[in-house]
Amino acid sequence: MINVALPKGRLGEKAYAMMAEAGYECPSILEKNRKLTFENPEKGVRYFWVKPWDVGVYVEHGAADVGICGKDILLENTPDVYELTDLGIGKCRMCVAGPKDFFDDGRRTLRVATKFPNIASGYYESVGRDIEIIKLNGSIELAPILGLSDVIVDIVETGNTLRENHLAPLVDIVNISARFVCNKISYQFKYEEILRMNALLAGKEG
Ligand code: PRP
Repeated sequence: MINVALPKGRLGEKAYAMMAEAGYECPSILEKNRKLTFENPEKGVRYFWVKPWDVGVYVEHGAADVGICGKDILLENTPDVYELTDLGIGKCRMCVAGPKDFFDDGRRTLRVATKFPNIASGYYESVGRDIEIIKLNGSIELAPILGLSDVIVDIVETGNTLRENHLAPLVDIVNISARFVCNKISYQFKYEEILRMNALLAGKEG
């Protein structure tokens, strides 16, 4: 049995659809209820729904053998897992964004609001810019509007949230998509099953 951590929400639905197409369907997962684990012994698979930010934690600790996780979260939290395949779903970019006419006055520390402090710090370190991180948990676009920060570092998918709030992407930091990740010990002990799952998923890239 392979234990698979799926991220709850939009990405999770796409991720499960890919798993099902790859031959790992589990019909009970589609029932509307509050259950968190689902298994299909015939296909040798058991699924867990977890918060997207927790997929790497479950996989690193071996509570799940494999999982599907956004590259943004992998870059931010750097869980100790193997990243096997780029699934090509959940595509977006990590950007610096701010007011359209933003001018960076290099004489003062730049205030950066973000859910991704490590990615933001790494980016600004690479360009030698001093910043102050303002860590938020969501609705990041509010920060420059209310004067809490100068810019934000956040995910941009369609760009609608930025546009509707009179903000614009200023710098692309990195492209993001969902990755198939694997626990390091499971990779040794369930090698064949995991490689088979990986190959079937890789053949279905979104
Ligand atoms: C994410 C991100 C942006 C938005 C970008 O927010 O933080 O706010 O999606 O998508 P768009 O470019 O298609 O508009 P999410 O929906 O995860 O909610 P959050 O505010 O809780 O972070």
